Amino acid sequence: KHPVDGRVNSLVLKHAFASTLFLCLKLDLVLMDTAKGLEASGETLEEQVKAFFYSAPPLHNSDEITQKLNQFIQRNSSPSGRRIVCVTSGGTTAPLEQRCVRYVDNFSSGHRGATSTEYFLKAGYAVIFLYRKRSFQPFCRSLPDDPLLECFKPTDESNIQVCEAYSEAVKRAIVDHHTAVAGGLLLKLPFNTIFEYLQMLQMIAMSMRTLGPRAMFYLAAAVSDFYVPWKDMVEHKIQSGSHLLDVKLVQVPKMLSVLRKDWAPQAFCISFKLETDSNILLNKAGAALEKYKMHAVVANELSTRKEQVVVVTSDEKVTVRCDKSKLHNDVEDPLIKLLSEKHATYSEQFR
Ligand code: PMT
Repeated sequence: KHPVDGRVNSLVLKHAFASTLFLCLKLDLVLMDTAKGLEASGETLEEQVKAFFYSAPPLHNSDEITQKLNQFIQRNSSPSGRRIVCVTSGGTTAPLEQRCVRYVDNFSSGHRGATSTEYFLKAGYAVIFLYRKRSFQPFCRSLPDDPLLECFKPTDESNIQVCEAYSEAVKRAIVDHHTAVAGGLLLKLPFNTIFEYLQMLQMIAMSMRTLGPRAMFYLAAAVSDFYVPWKDMVEHKIQSGSHLLDVKLVQVPKMLSVLRKDWAPQAFCISFKLETDSNILLNKAGAALEKYKMHAVVANELSTRKEQVVVVTSDEKVTVRCDKSKLHNDVEDPLIKLLSEKHATYSEQFR
């Protein structure tokens, strides 16, 4: 994950058309040590951020997104004064070609973000769900992998019905989803690439500024650490033929501090820290809390992330576990309760 000047790293890249995975290519990627490069060039984080947005291909539907955001925020601002959370979910892709056939991806399924969204809605929040296309969706977790084909069956030539085994789950998913969306409490905005994700996060944050401390950011998405700047990217599909492919990846600027300082300075901000080595997890979470001035960092270890997390704040480290005695024993249930309380305490300071 971490670059060292000139070091060659191997990554498995997914070569996909639509949602079908056709083949995996093992390519060698040269990761640039941009931290050192930046030091040498004297480039600041602000300049790095500017360069990222300057080179990013503009969103084709930004007017539509702005309109949806404004409507959603206005609807939930008055007279109810509801708290609004932006939940980010799933992994961003880093394309290797402008007409993208291949991209660097990561493991995130979007389960954390989708589940958390359900509990935030239960806790009385309105939710802006910024999610990776085709990742887990709120209210659909108890459905099988291919709900359309597995939950329904034909009764005759022109009619279909829900299979008995899934009838309750299908009804619950449709009713709960419809209630949240039609009731104006859930706004779903999809992304694929790191370029789309960061532009949309910025738009959301700027729109939520007016909410002050009533806004929360819950950054569960697994964001690409490296990308190929748009201007350096080849236009057409990279041709095979050589056993070695050199691709220069540069570090994605960490937007957490920009979010806190410039985009939404009064919002309550939660970021996540994921590690596979539990021995370094809490120290890394503590360092992120301090460095990016987060209000809390949720530390999770890859293999146990669905059973337990640790909420790290400047005062304490609270271990949150799922309650195995319950039927729906999601760790997100106690986690969102705890974060919602902390958010309430935080907002009180502004009264
Ligand atoms: O989706 P699931 O399969 O359910 O898995 C959930 C999860 C493990 C992905 C989730 O719980 C989680 O830990 N998400 C964050 C993973 C991650 O990218 O960690 P990180 O250490 O690389 O980044 C830390 C934080 O910085 C994250 O909140 C991320 O949103 C943010 N970030 C990262 C890189 C970057 N360039 N800019 C950022 O803002």
